[in-house]
Amino acid sequence: MKASVTRGLGQGFVVEEVELAAPIGHEVRIEVKASGLCHSDLSVATFIGGDFPVVLGHEVAGVVTAVGSQVTQVAIGDHVVGSLIQYCGACVNCLGGRSYICLHPEATERAAGQPSRLSSGGAPVAQGMGLAGFAQEALIHENQLAVVPDEMPWAPAALIGCGVLTGAGAVLNTAGVRHGDTVVVIGAGGVGLNAISGARLAGAGTIIVTDIEDAKLDRATAFGATHVVNSRTTDPVEAVRDITGAGADHVFDFVGARPVTAQGMQMLGKGGGLYLVGVGAMDAGVEVSTLVALSASQKVQGVYMGSSELKRDIPFYASAYLQGRMNLDDLITKRIGLADIEAGYESLKEPGTARVVITDFN
Ligand SMILES: NC(=O)c1ccc[n+]([C@@H]2O[C@H](COP(=O)([O-])OP(=O)(O)OC[C@H]3O[C@@H](n4cnc5c(N)ncnc54)[C@H](O)[C@@H]3O)[C@@H](O)[C@H]2O)c1
Ligand SMILES: [Zn+2]
Ligand SMILES: [Zn+2]
Repeated sequence: MKASVTRGLGQGFVVEEVELAAPIGHEVRIEVKASGLCHSDLSVATFIGGDFPVVLGHEVAGVVTAVGSQVTQVAIGDHVVGSLIQYCGACVNCLGGRSYICLHPEATERAAGQPSRLSSGGAPVAQGMGLAGFAQEALIHENQLAVVPDEMPWAPAALIGCGVLTGAGAVLNTAGVRHGDTVVVIGAGGVGLNAISGARLAGAGTIIVTDIEDAKLDRATAFGATHVVNSRTTDPVEAVRDITGAGADHVFDFVGARPVTAQGMQMLGKGGGLYLVGVGAMDAGVEVSTLVALSASQKVQGVYMGSSELKRDIPFYASAYLQGRMNLDDLITKRIGLADIEAGYESLKEPGTARVVITDFN
């Protein structure tokens, strides 16, 4: 099959012929129908690194073509969406309803000594995040797959796996936003837009969105922001204070740059929570004054994958989309072929672009 391989840091994405093993145990083979370009894959390929060569791609949707002998949760012909959340289903965190912080995510991978799921000319090729969606086919543990209705279109389905789970999940799961609450979304990109959708689903009273690009803010308004603030031209802390009076109940930071996160902290009202989602730089973080935090009863929390239970949340977002309650179509600004990943990432830098999705794998 064809796959887009990254052979080393900064070596880009090159389509090659790669072998995919037959499914064993809990593995599921899928024909990939759509694969989204998320920033995290570009970060792995350009500065974070990991095992190379590797096939990346962790926003993936496809149809099941074969299953291992122990697979019980999906069947041939099912339409599935993958997630990078790897969980064992048996540790205390999984049993406590927090599979996104499973203690044994390696349970979803092949054991050392077993042949690699992906290989090239007999040599192993690493599988990005247990998924490797930048390919014609993928071999994925059934725990990382959720079944969606057949009528769910492929491209929006793929986006649910990371950007939607993270953005909407931060609001619905991590923060537990309630109707009437005041929400601030910092950064209206491919993930932040889904936080707006999550805030609408939760019935938030006020949804303030800040960004530095007017085109992003226009899209934020279309997604349901009640107020938008261009933080390049307007002080966002003052703006949030003016709009809310008492400060915000929840502030979600999708940017992750120290000055921006510090502003997020200052936007909080009494009892407010600041949620850290974006990682714009290696030194991303925030200073917390104990005196301020304790007297105003405020909190700061890191958010991994929107605290999502993927088997519950992926089908939920798919039905919310099919019912017209969640906008996924306008996240997609471009559809590309498997060979065009680098150009796709380039176009993500344009202010008019939200998400780019591979839909042509030939
Ligand atoms: N925590 C997790 O589990 C998780 C999961 C997925 C993605 N992420 C991270 O979430 C972040 C957002 O991802 P994305 O795909 O939406 O990125 P994106 O580039 O599409 O969006 C970022 C947005 O922030 C805006 N922005 C930049 N500087 C700003 C500033 N100073 N003030 C306000 N807005 C500003 C940009 O204009 C853009 O619209 C990334 O850092 C990504 O790695 C985290
Ligand atoms: Zn992602
Ligand atoms: Zn577990």
